[in-house]
Amino acid sequence: MTKLRPDGEATLRTDPLAPGADVSSGRLRRAPENFLTPEEIRQVGQGRRAFLRASFLTAAAATVAVGTRGRAAAASTAVGVGDPDILNPTPWGSSLGQPVAASPYGLPSKHERGLARRQSPGLTQVAAASVSFAPLQGLFGIITPSGLHFERHHQGWQDIDPTRHRFMIDGARPEFVKTPKVYTMDDILRLPSVSRMHFIECGANTGMEWGNVAVPTVQYTHGMLSCSEFTGVPLRTLLEDCGADLKAATYVLAEGGDGSSMTRTIPIELVLSGEVLVAYGQNGEMLRPENGYPLRLVVPGVQGVSWVKWLRRVEVGDRPYATKDEAVHYIDLMPDGQHRQYTSIQECKSVITTPSGGQTLVDKGYFTISGLAWSGRGTVKRVDVSVDGGVNWVEATLQTPVLSKCLTRFILPWNWDGKPALLQSRATDETGFVQPGYGQLRAARGSRSIYHNNAIQTWQVAENGDVSNVQIL
Ligand code: MTE
Repeated sequence: MTKLRPDGEATLRTDPLAPGADVSSGRLRRAPENFLTPEEIRQVGQGRRAFLRASFLTAAAATVAVGTRGRAAAASTAVGVGDPDILNPTPWGSSLGQPVAASPYGLPSKHERGLARRQSPGLTQVAAASVSFAPLQGLFGIITPSGLHFERHHQGWQDIDPTRHRFMIDGARPEFVKTPKVYTMDDILRLPSVSRMHFIECGANTGMEWGNVAVPTVQYTHGMLSCSEFTGVPLRTLLEDCGADLKAATYVLAEGGDGSSMTRTIPIELVLSGEVLVAYGQNGEMLRPENGYPLRLVVPGVQGVSWVKWLRRVEVGDRPYATKDEAVHYIDLMPDGQHRQYTSIQECKSVITTPSGGQTLVDKGYFTISGLAWSGRGTVKRVDVSVDGGVNWVEATLQTPVLSKCLTRFILPWNWDGKPALLQSRATDETGFVQPGYGQLRAARGSRSIYHNNAIQTWQVAENGDVSNVQIL
């Protein structure tokens, strides 16, 4: 057992089963996922932005009430004694179940319907040019189920007929590509493929938190993040197939087929590494329409905007293209008022997903702190966890697999003694880069940026068990 403070506040245990350790288990109440009604969301959509803050506050208040009730109930229940769910026949054990293929494409249990992608009300004017956040607080392991993958569309999503989809490779000048080609989906699907697990994070993830605490749960602070197994053909293979001059080329331009004119410059080194994929598969099946069906670019380690969806063209050239989504958007506002362009690698970052904001620790006792870490520069080397706001740190266990440019799950046993605690995680990647605190990040980058916020997240556990979002400099 590792005591982090002499006064015994919130202790981390590295060995939860040490003799004499109190392993009576703590219970956790999930975040109030459905705290906004459809009517309230509609009102926010009509421009009542101030409503956002009020709604989140109401939700927080509701959690307090629920948490208090939960603790009272817990005290009066002796586990197992007189439990009707043990003593009586259950309906599911004494009746015929559903037939096979009752749901030809399987769906999650109805009891899990609270776990869903969600919009942050009032964030954007129209839902077609918006974002939905992945419910990180309810996921296990590292793979995001395809139906819960976050979405970011600049002009809505399309369900393109794959028989009519075309993918073209050409050159900025004829000498860059000897034989420009147009591929159909059939052409692409017959080529040798690779399957790799990678995270995708929008450059704007955690963007609302640059200046101050803005949103209550990990779904909204970090949910523009997902991880899948992607299947596709390395872009390098296709460029070689077209006779591209990979010595003369220094950049390629990727272009989407939707109405948003999404175009992004990709440095040729990334393509030559073989990591950039023209992908059609996601978690063993075709991409979901929301995620770019039937073709998207996969650019491991790079911010999500470069993962061009509904990919229709790649142009080979010798200079950055300075398109609207790299010259004026997805740029870093620096403290001196200048903007930094082409900073597209997602630096090392981590977040505790449980316990996390909006949840309530119903009892004191044993919990497993669990979270996600990732780096756009390779593998995660270690994650340290603090329960006292960064005064003391303990190394967490990294669950396997630990893969390059992929999410890594970390866990650490924790015995909550019922006293206030400040939970943090701090990741280090294979390059030795250590995730910064808010003080360090703001000193370098100011507090008015939107993109590339990889600061250490703090969750405050109050004495009554409520977990909330706070920032520590
Ligand atoms: N590609 C096209 N064609 N159109 C888009 O709007 N959005 C980009 C990128 N690719 C976008 C696109 C942005 S900003 C992000 S963060 C990712 O797609 C999001 O991918 P996802 O919706 O699959 O999560």
